Amino acid sequence: MDRKLFLQNSAILAGATILPTASAFSPNLEINVMDKLTDANCNFIQQSLPYAENFLEPYMDAETLHLHYTFHHGGAMKGANKDMENIRKAMDSNSFETVDYYTKKLAYHFSSHVMHSIFWTNLTNKKTAPAGKLLKDIEKDLGS
Ligand SMILES: [Fe+2]
Repeated sequence: MDRKLFLQNSAILAGATILPTASAFSPNLEINVMDKLTDANCNFIQQSLPYAENFLEPYMDAETLHLHYTFHHGGAMKGANKDMENIRKAMDSNSFETVDYYTKKLAYHFSSHVMHSIFWTNLTNKKTAPAGKLLKDIEKDLGS
């Protein structure tokens, strides 16, 4: 396998294997496809929030949520798409040092995209407390 094909396959496998098989997304939000990170053309996409921007108040105000979602998460998603574009161009010109450079940038942007997508699905405006196995593990490992 030549280096170009290896890098091509590695990028695809990295995207497919970075997420655990047991989803980290909140199950009720998987229905809303918040966990879908790419479109049919393998471009990274940012799903709409599954709630209104003021949903998390008073814990996170609407302006903070808007800025975080739009510019932090949105920036990561746009950066990942730009990185992929630059990787493709570098591969087409056999510039493997440039491929390495943009692959590192892609790792940063893609992980931010994944982590933010998980983040949005695990927030609530209701007060909750650990229960079940999580509570038992906290008590076992950290005391009461
Ligand atoms: Fe963030």
